[in-house]
Amino acid sequence: MNNWTRMNFTPCRPLGKDGRRITGCDEHIALSRSAAAEGSVLLKNDGTLPLKKENTVAVFGKAQYDYVFAGGGSGHVYCEYVRNIYEGLLLKAGEGKFSLYDGIYDYYKEYVEKQYGEGILRGQVLEAPLSEEQVIKAKEKADVAIVTICRFSTEGRDRESVKGDFYLSDEEENMISLVCKHFDKVVALINVGGIIDTEWFKENDKISAALYIWNAGMEGGGAAADIICGDVNPSGKLVDTFTKSFDDYPSSENFNDSFDYKKYYDDIYVGYRYFETIPGAAEKVNYPFGFGLSYTNFELSGIKAEEKDGEILISVTVKNTGNCEGKEVIQVYSSAPEGKLGRPAKELRAFKKTKLLSPGESENIFLSFPISQMATFDDLGVYSKSAYILEGGKYSFYIGTSIRDNTCADFAYEVNEEFVLVEQLTQLVAPKKLEKRLKNDGTYEEMETGEYTDFTYAEAPINTAVMPQELKKLDAVISGEITLDSFIRQFSDDELLDLLCGKPSVGVANTGGMGGGVWHKFGVPCAMTADGPAGVRINPRCETPTTAWPCATQLACTWNEEIVEAIGKAGALEMKENNLFIWLTPALNIHRTPLCGRNFEYFSEDPYVAGKMAAAKVRGMQGEKVAASAKHFACNNYETNRVLADSIVSERALREIYLKGFEICVKEAAPYTIMTSYNKINGHQASEHYELLTGILRGEWGFEGMVTTDWGCAGRHGYEVKAGNDIKMGEGYKESLKELMYGRSGVLKRNDIEVCAKRILEMLIKLI
Ligand code: BGC
Repeated sequence: MNNWTRMNFTPCRPLGKDGRRITGCDEHIALSRSAAAEGSVLLKNDGTLPLKKENTVAVFGKAQYDYVFAGGGSGHVYCEYVRNIYEGLLLKAGEGKFSLYDGIYDYYKEYVEKQYGEGILRGQVLEAPLSEEQVIKAKEKADVAIVTICRFSTEGRDRESVKGDFYLSDEEENMISLVCKHFDKVVALINVGGIIDTEWFKENDKISAALYIWNAGMEGGGAAADIICGDVNPSGKLVDTFTKSFDDYPSSENFNDSFDYKKYYDDIYVGYRYFETIPGAAEKVNYPFGFGLSYTNFELSGIKAEEKDGEILISVTVKNTGNCEGKEVIQVYSSAPEGKLGRPAKELRAFKKTKLLSPGESENIFLSFPISQMATFDDLGVYSKSAYILEGGKYSFYIGTSIRDNTCADFAYEVNEEFVLVEQLTQLVAPKKLEKRLKNDGTYEEMETGEYTDFTYAEAPINTAVMPQELKKLDAVISGEITLDSFIRQFSDDELLDLLCGKPSVGVANTGGMGGGVWHKFGVPCAMTADGPAGVRINPRCETPTTAWPCATQLACTWNEEIVEAIGKAGALEMKENNLFIWLTPALNIHRTPLCGRNFEYFSEDPYVAGKMAAAKVRGMQGEKVAASAKHFACNNYETNRVLADSIVSERALREIYLKGFEICVKEAAPYTIMTSYNKINGHQASEHYELLTGILRGEWGFEGMVTTDWGCAGRHGYEVKAGNDIKMGEGYKESLKELMYGRSGVLKRNDIEVCAKRILEMLIKLI
């Protein structure tokens, strides 16, 4: 059965073997669990983990029951069950891996259930008060304690740098100090989709181990237990820098300055680019980018770098020198010469995870990346305005297992001229209200300011194709009988405008569809959408539970593109089985601040990791002919006033940080659709941003897919069309389009809307 048949008739046809449904099937749930385990990061361990057979463990904290498997909004999923932390541990205790103290679970369960009953949602329940007697009683039976901490976050609101959110609440602090007072072995289990304070366990000798399990999906409790008992050796590595305090992040100082805008003074110095570069910043780091412990040890040898045909080639041998099997992540960083533009001390250029290595086993790892990847964007014209250039001097390569733990290769790449021009572009999406930006010596560079101007639009191409003699349906384009341009000629303006508007949901969809409308006349199917990124989000009233995957940040922490691609494929099959065809994922904005309410939906502070992970997911999805919608393009780095606030950012930071992940994803995996963000960027709504969509996305990167708005965004539909934003979701404003077409302004012409309609139809054709 082809996908159009599914779109048109929404049949009930399972995709599994022997007529079984694959949505939420055991295989997918097992994949979710192994990804969760592989993306969990062991931050501290004195040997307490893995637990031994003779250990009896007592679990404290309401998070053992109130486990947060997903965030809110589009990052939520409705699944068959959620295995919480205690239940995960109970399974392993049942297998005899260790013993579990059961004297306090019911207390937490009742406390949490009572608050659920009062309407408080999962993850938002306050910490249960803990008495010293409860701890003493547990200590009589148990020798190891696990303290659990969880946080919930959601789109539509930002987190706060206060107790109970970024920092521990008083009640949580009380729990931890009581447990630490009575137990010699304390393991911290952190169930948070983003960053919270880590100082409380980093600097506390009484805490023996800390495992960051993120928002790990429906089997997160099982995955945590897999690591705790040693069935899985942790191999997750951080994709964000964890600092001593919230104030250490360069974006923190101005985060609450204005409801109307955020000024990105930190420029390209986001995450490790700040902490590894700016004088005095390194000591603010608790856990650096790329860091994560294992139960075994790895030795790297034979590190070699060379240049061949415009590529840097790296080889290294990784050996498991410990006592249990495990995986290691090899990371390659480069450093650039200290030229006039100033560069971060190190930047990630490539990574690869080893296979599962047995004790004593080795693997040769080969990595490569183009030299051009090391170029920097000269936005102000120090060498050549609006060009990617490589400054003269020596480029060095660091190969290792985190940004701090690595070895400089013997070989360095030399640029012998003053600079090499890698790509000449033009000025686009420039800021006018950014007075300064950070330099790599910690001082600020002044920036010119001015007033924003309207866009000058290029004329859309005129469709000169011949109209068919008799009415043809879209099938005639597929069969090659007529061209898409001829097909479009048959549409009245009104019918074309109809295509530019989102359509109501059909079947189990709850976020509407694209296409259709004039289906009976032209045979254009309507493809239903569903959120992403954490799973196929179907309304619970449909009684169709799907697989809840680990959050995006956790997937990135696997540093395993294969597993992310497999999840893309599995999710796409769940989409297809439910007659849904546009999965609103991956989400790949940059973690600029720990406070962005949507960070759990996004991958990393680093655009290379984000772009690679997004591309892997898109490949998995689109291999099944389910469209990806890479979102939110761009600069959705906070949620406060998200539909109107302006992200004010330099062109250099845009190109090198905030757009780079999208560029990688577009160039490597060609997502069928891109979703624009709610916010403004440098004075214009992202959805109306002609320079962003037509200039950079299509013009520079060669994107040939379709662009959609985010749902109910504030952009004006007509100006979105002019910008190259093809469809307005959830529903468009056809009347406002007509006004711009037939009213006095004459802003919109038939050729403008034909271009958008054509891209929507091309996208639908790719799905057949
Ligand atoms: C979110 C998108 C989501 C859309 C449809 C919006 O609120 O920003 O990420 O895909 O809703 O649910």
